[in-house]
Amino acid sequence: MIELKNIGKTYENKGQNIEALKEMSFKFKKGEITGIIGYSGAGKSTLLRCINLLEIPSSGEVIIDGINLNTLDAKKLRETRKKIGMIFQHFNLMKSRSVSKNIAYPLKGSGFSKKDIDERVDELLDLVGLKDKKNSYPSQLSGGQKQRVAIARALANRPNLILCDEATSALDPETTESILKLLKKINNDLGVTIILITHQMEVIKEICDSVIVMEDGCVKEEGEVVEIFSRPKTPITKRFLSSIFNNDKSQSYLENIDLKKNQKIVQLSYVGNNTEEAYISRISRDYEVDASILFGNIQIIKETPIGNMVVKLGGAESSILGSIDYLNDNKIYTEVLKDGRKTV
Ligand SMILES: Nc1ncnc2c1ncn2[C@@H]1O[C@H](COP(=O)(O)OP(=O)(O)OP(=O)(O)O)[C@@H](O)[C@H]1O
Ligand SMILES: [Mg+2]
Repeated sequence: MIELKNIGKTYENKGQNIEALKEMSFKFKKGEITGIIGYSGAGKSTLLRCINLLEIPSSGEVIIDGINLNTLDAKKLRETRKKIGMIFQHFNLMKSRSVSKNIAYPLKGSGFSKKDIDERVDELLDLVGLKDKKNSYPSQLSGGQKQRVAIARALANRPNLILCDEATSALDPETTESILKLLKKINNDLGVTIILITHQMEVIKEICDSVIVMEDGCVKEEGEVVEIFSRPKTPITKRFLSSIFNNDKSQSYLENIDLKKNQKIVQLSYVGNNTEEAYISRISRDYEVDASILFGNIQIIKETPIGNMVVKLGGAESSILGSIDYLNDNKIYTEVLKDGRKTV
């Protein structure tokens, strides 16, 4: 378990204080992939660098598997850091060294024989699918291949934890997908805990178990991915999700719809099996509400369907309210987006 207790970081710049992290606490679950999302300057990289004390926090504690890293001497901290791999957006490979020398680098001075190191490097090359590039140099590799080398290097010391700072931000969508698959495989097969930073909800959707949404050095929202995708609470999370659910376009579409006094536009969100039930025909039949579907979409996140549907309901006020209650009772979350009674 990785626990951050009241971690704060203030930078001093030309006499000015910049509060990059405002005393935050968080527990990362072991064996999970946690995504950190936020706009530029939110404090994501600062937070990640505080986890392995690459950045010394101004306040608070980092506790990994019960060990408070702040209390370790330099030697012990070095040993602990060896069990934490790091991957960066721009790969940070050594240009003058071959692929195998880059991967072997963290094993230097660890007391391993040359034979052990060679064997480990071959194993890692195999794992990341780059056996044939062993003797190539970074300049001869594509972005995706460079990131695979960086991943192999991060795994050299058999870490329990890998920190990824925008590992896929410099890659095209297909290469991003293949790197995400590799990270998922490492998480699954080796049980490595992964904390990754991204700007894209797509990345979170693809491989994360939990997500932290950051803004202004604070955690604005956190939880399991299915929960956050189906019930986002804060405006910033909704904004990040809007790209996935196409909300921006639907917003302007809705603005242009004229409603009669007895009509409402309601968004229905549901998780899992609810997507299979015939709720819409039920409310028409049992509550005498006219229901027409304006649009909807279903995302499959961690094998769980998450549905979002926008419907126009028409009928007596009490019928509409009754049908909304019925939907809520059946775990369909409803939000009235537009109300004919309130539209001028
Ligand atoms: N070494 C530093 N000295 C001074 N200020 C810094 C330093 N590093 C970061 N900051 C400031 O701290 C804040 C958080 O920066 P950080 O790099 O953690 O953001 P981020 O969320 O990773 O952004 P991005 O998405 O652009 O990478 C920013 O206002 C930044 O300018
Ligand atoms: Mg950053």
